[in-house]
Amino acid sequence: MTTPGGTLMITGGAGFIGQNLVHRLVRSMPGTPILVVDAMTYAANPASLEPLVDSGRIRFVAANIVDGEAMRALIAGESVTHIAHLAAESHVDRSISGPDAFFETNIAGTYSLLKAARAAWEGASAERRFLHVSSDEVFGDLEEGDPPFDEDTPYRPSSPYSASKAASDHLARAFHRTYGLPVIVTNCSNNYGPYQHPEKLIPLMVLNALRGLELPVYGDGRNIRDWLYVEDHCAGLEAALVRGAVGETYCIGGGSERRNIDVVGTICDAIDRRLAEEAGRRAEWPDCPAARGGSCRELIRFVRDRPGHDHRYAINGSKIARTLGIAPQETFETGIQRTVDWYVDNADWWRHALNADFSDWVAGHYGAGAHGAANR
Ligand code: NAD
Ligand code: DAU
Repeated sequence: MTTPGGTLMITGGAGFIGQNLVHRLVRSMPGTPILVVDAMTYAANPASLEPLVDSGRIRFVAANIVDGEAMRALIAGESVTHIAHLAAESHVDRSISGPDAFFETNIAGTYSLLKAARAAWEGASAERRFLHVSSDEVFGDLEEGDPPFDEDTPYRPSSPYSASKAASDHLARAFHRTYGLPVIVTNCSNNYGPYQHPEKLIPLMVLNALRGLELPVYGDGRNIRDWLYVEDHCAGLEAALVRGAVGETYCIGGGSERRNIDVVGTICDAIDRRLAEEAGRRAEWPDCPAARGGSCRELIRFVRDRPGHDHRYAINGSKIARTLGIAPQETFETGIQRTVDWYVDNADWWRHALNADFSDWVAGHYGAGAHGAANR
């Protein structure tokens, strides 16, 4: 199997990983029609997709995956043979303060989409694939010294977000076993890179540092995540979609465990370096400590911890490496520098996200004035 015989549908394609995946697949599958379906929640920012829509290379439909009739009509009407399902509510902190949307989209929405695919694909003879994109958070957390998660690790989710993703994984696998739906599941570690919403750790720290705002590190900053550059995740998703074995699960990881405080320090150093090299950028970001010869590290503040905060995630990616030849290509240090450079050079893209909704989120979550005005 190489490329889809019909249309490839990407749910959540206007989100962070979705946009990166669309850009990758437009290049790697030039003959394949691509249909992006997204409900356009606060997390979506489709600006990077507009040229692809305008040129007719992709089709974009604003629709909610919970709407099963709409999903079935799209899958049947657009001759969809492959689905990459990324649509989700994805931010753990928002799942703690408002879990309803997580259960609605991640559980009910995935269930609707699975049902729609099953109905639309009933009796089809050509190859079909349903790639369910999930998270390593379904496995719970690790202590230092524990072996990394792999495909056989039992589920032990901690947050409303991870519980909703765990439920969606179970549904996807149940549709495979019971109804023969051609499901493949991936569980990936923390992604970073271009097009990520500024509520997440890495873009939040970059944009706050540039604007001279405080850098809020939860607890003591010793929690550990396994960071993967988003293009490496997308390479794994493409491989699983077109070459993975139906019914299988693939864990995808960065092999790059870092403590949060060290991640923030690395970001600060990358911005300090970039601004030291470019007078033009120093003038553009006058509130950044690096613009006046200081260090962004001055802005680091330890703040109240996330309730139920998972201590450590780490992935054993040996199955996807062995069976599909997928391994991270970007190191954490080069990936962070690329990411910082992307945010420094693409303010037009991220200013869109610093809207009233985001200011409300920052004020409500971190406390008004806790780290300065959000939309400076
Ligand atoms: P994101 O929040 O940036 O994007 C999610 C997209 O889904 C948004 O465009 C949003 O508008 C859309 N969406 C939300 N609800 C919808 C609905 N009901 N119907 C249709 N569209 C809807 O998320 P992301 O970081 O790009 O994550 C994509 C997927 O990858 C998610 O399933 C997530 O659980 C998984 N994942 C993310 C990471 C990570 O580090 N970001 C790691 C592993 C797995
Ligand atoms: O592991 C995969 C998961 O990674 C994905 O399934 C999720 O969709 C994605 O959001 C991400 O979840 P995390 O909770 O790990 O990511 P986040 O960027 O929110 O936080 C990373 C770490 O940084 C975490 O330990 C919490 C901490 N943090 C986060 C924020 C937003 C801070 O210390 N301060 C902050 O302001």
